[in-house]
Amino acid sequence: MTQAYVIDKMISAKAIDARIEELCREIKSAFASTEKLIVVGLLRGSFVFIADLVRELDMNVEVDFLETSSYGDSMQSSREVRILKDLRGEIEGQDVLVVEDIVDTGHTLSHVLQLLRSRKPRKLETIALLDKPSRRETDIRATWTGFEIPDEFVVGYGIDYAQRNRNLPFIGCVRFPEAEAG
Ligand code: IMP
Repeated sequence: MTQAYVIDKMISAKAIDARIEELCREIKSAFASTEKLIVVGLLRGSFVFIADLVRELDMNVEVDFLETSSYGDSMQSSREVRILKDLRGEIEGQDVLVVEDIVDTGHTLSHVLQLLRSRKPRKLETIALLDKPSRRETDIRATWTGFEIPDEFVVGYGIDYAQRNRNLPFIGCVRFPEAEAG
């Protein structure tokens, strides 16, 4: 059971849309000579972001997914990253863009990049919708970041708290009024 909480809007759907347009212009120019881009979504938090991203990328793309162990129902990273579902396709010699919802401690992205690099892609870049730089425990930064946010627990636009709120069209910040009231 999760404690009662409220969600304060942090980033609107309109702001996300506008940022995706900007990011896609940069991605298209970085991959201008690419014949086919393999866009790898990290499940499950990136599923909404990747859907909007690929529809804005008017180039030849293939979509694949990788699932790593997550926070479960907790708000804390376990720091131990396990692959729960691997890619369906090969990436050797291919151009790959990894799509993450949030870079928090950075352990997930570091682990995934280490794994994918070992498969020898031609080019490997990363995009994260959100970045919480103050929480970082690894030396990693996505090539492109949508928004830098403070150390707050967020939900919406694919991102969950104990599997809830993924379907909110905006990014909201979770607050616990009872805890705040003391
Ligand atoms: P990291 O390994 O600590 O960087 O954690 C990355 C993963 O933790 C993300 O892909 C999210 O699934 C999850 N995560 C990090 N911060 C939040 C949050 O504020 N809300 C929900 N999930 C989060």
